[in-house]
Amino acid sequence: MSGAPFVVVIGPPGVGKSTIARGIAQRLDRRLVDTDALVEEREGRSVSDLFVESGEDYFRAAEERAVLDALREDGIVLALGGGAPMIPAVTDALQGHTVLFLDVGIADAAKRIGFDKSRPLLSVNPRQSWIRTMDARRPTYESLATLRVDTAGRGVDDVVTEALARL
Ligand code: S3P
Repeated sequence: MSGAPFVVVIGPPGVGKSTIARGIAQRLDRRLVDTDALVEEREGRSVSDLFVESGEDYFRAAEERAVLDALREDGIVLALGGGAPMIPAVTDALQGHTVLFLDVGIADAAKRIGFDKSRPLLSVNPRQSWIRTMDARRPTYESLATLRVDTAGRGVDDVVTEALARL
């Protein structure tokens, strides 16, 4: 595929997508693009503010545009927001790409993100919401993945090393 990212990193909130993607980008001296950050930059607002002020549909439309644009960038390491792979146009567009699914259980996710209410979709009943959302999304994450790496209980360097060895 011409004009494609080196790897697209997907997975649930709290799995460490941005951190692991940054680690991969640093090791390989490649550019990192994080679609949450790209949306925030384009919209001039935080993801939380976008949800509150304009609603989830508005955020998803902005997210879809950001992901489809980023998927045309050659050689980057691309981290997607946890819900991005569920957007039908994004699900389609990810076919044929190298996709790293970072997997984790609720215990580690809770430790990492602390369910501090900064994530709009996890602000009410965070643990139950995370589990329900992950159950619904897992089949899509798994079907898109060309590589799955479990991050539970592991440090960044360890996960990056495994991902790079198997990519
Ligand atoms: C979302 C995950 C967030 C962000 C938005 C929606 C989701 O990104 O895109 O709050 O639907 O799971 P992270 O996965 O980086 O937390």
